[in-house]
Amino acid sequence: MEDWNMKIIVTKDYEESCKVVAGFLIQQVQKIPESKLGLATGGTAEGVYPILVEACRQGEVDFSKVTTVNLDEYEGMDPDSEQSYLTYMNKRFLIPAGIDSTKAYVPSGMNDPEKEIALFNEKLYGDDHLIDIQLLGIGVSGHIGFNEPAEELTAGVHIQKLDEGTIQANSRFFENPDDVPREAITMGVGDIMKAAKIVLIATGENKASVIRKLLMDDQITSSVPATVLKMHRDATIVIDKSLAESAGWKD
Ligand code: PGA
Repeated sequence: MEDWNMKIIVTKDYEESCKVVAGFLIQQVQKIPESKLGLATGGTAEGVYPILVEACRQGEVDFSKVTTVNLDEYEGMDPDSEQSYLTYMNKRFLIPAGIDSTKAYVPSGMNDPEKEIALFNEKLYGDDHLIDIQLLGIGVSGHIGFNEPAEELTAGVHIQKLDEGTIQANSRFFENPDDVPREAITMGVGDIMKAAKIVLIATGENKASVIRKLLMDDQITSSVPATVLKMHRDATIVIDKSLAESAGWKD
């Protein structure tokens, strides 16, 4: 079995996974207070942010000097709405952690796509400071960011049509499944791969098949975009025991 450079951490449960992942981010910021953090939304990442905020309240870590860039946002999403990733980030992390809004970028799905792609690139590369640590979830489709399975993957920031499986999975956050946007603006896989360090958190039986593809064979395939992480120099995959078991992963 080949795990390339990826490090696999199997925890007792989801709660412990969140602590481990939060620990990576906290350590990074303790070491370099001006770190650039690549951040993720989604249900799985949700448990990580309260731990970061608590660590900040306890004075263990100070996020006031970091800059942040988020992975993605739905196209057409009003930034002020409850489902927007800006609202998610503001509520769970950016405001309680005391990060100035000028230093945090969550892409807008309301702006002209070309202009927003240019702005996204400016935030990623304009300061000559690549992302120090990128937090990732993984979709049931195997996506990272919103890079969905396709014959070819896109390296840079782009507008992505969402997979049916993703739309279905994310309909739990919307009153009406028809309200789930069909497109998103996302970092490309090349942008994600430029992060110095990557930490991916996954939980739930519905992720077993993509986690199996990520951990248990040596294929890198655009049909499971997360498999590009096998080529990253410093990627850590954090899963709980129950997911490891459903994926058939043994340490
Ligand atoms: P989830 O999303 O944590 O809500 O399953 C992860 C993702 O789509 O990357």
